[in-house]
Amino acid sequence: MILKVARLGHPAVRTAASAVDPAIIRSPEFQRLLDDMVETMREYNGVGLAAPQVHLSLQVAVLEMSHHPRYPNMPEIPLTYLINPQVTILEHATIDDWEGCLSIPDMRGLVPRFKQLRVTALGRHGEELDFVANDFHARVIQHEVDHLKGEVYLDRMPNLRSLSHLAEWQRFVLETPQKQPQRAGESG
Ligand code: NI
Repeated sequence: MILKVARLGHPAVRTAASAVDPAIIRSPEFQRLLDDMVETMREYNGVGLAAPQVHLSLQVAVLEMSHHPRYPNMPEIPLTYLINPQVTILEHATIDDWEGCLSIPDMRGLVPRFKQLRVTALGRHGEELDFVANDFHARVIQHEVDHLKGEVYLDRMPNLRSLSHLAEWQRFVLETPQKQPQRAGESG
C-alpha cells in the first residue's frame, strides 16, 4: 500500500522517532509496514524513506538505488532496511552534493555530508547489520538517520543560498557545465 508522505510543516517530520522493540520486527503488521515503506519510496522515486515521513514515529528507514530513471549513472544501493540505526563517523571530511527530500518536494540544496560511516542496525528480520558506507551511500544514510531525529537536509546546509526549485535547478545548475554537480543526489 502506498502511504501518504508528510511534508515539512507537519509535526511528524519534526518529531524524534522512538526505537523499535526488536520483539515486534517479525510480526505481520511490522513486516507489512516495511513493504509499504518500500512501495511508497519506489512510487515517489526516492532513494530512501524514513518512517516519520509516513507519519510513524519509529526508527525505521529503507534505502534503495537501482536503475534510477533520473540518475542512471549513480552507484547502486541494494534494498536495505535499517531499524534502530546507529552511525559512527569514520571520516570527518565532508563532501558537498545536492539533495532533495520527498517531504520537501521539488527543491534541491547543496548539503555537506561526512564521507564515510560505520552503520549498525537491525535488518528486516531483526538480524544485526554492521557495515561501512561511503560517499553517496553514506549521504543517503545520513539524510535518513536525520529524519529519525526530526531533522531535514535544510538543517545541515551552512547557508541557504544554493536552495533551488527543481525546475530552476535543472535549468541553471544541472545544465550548466561549469556548475555541474558531481552527482544529482535525491534522497528520501
Ligand atoms: Ni528526506
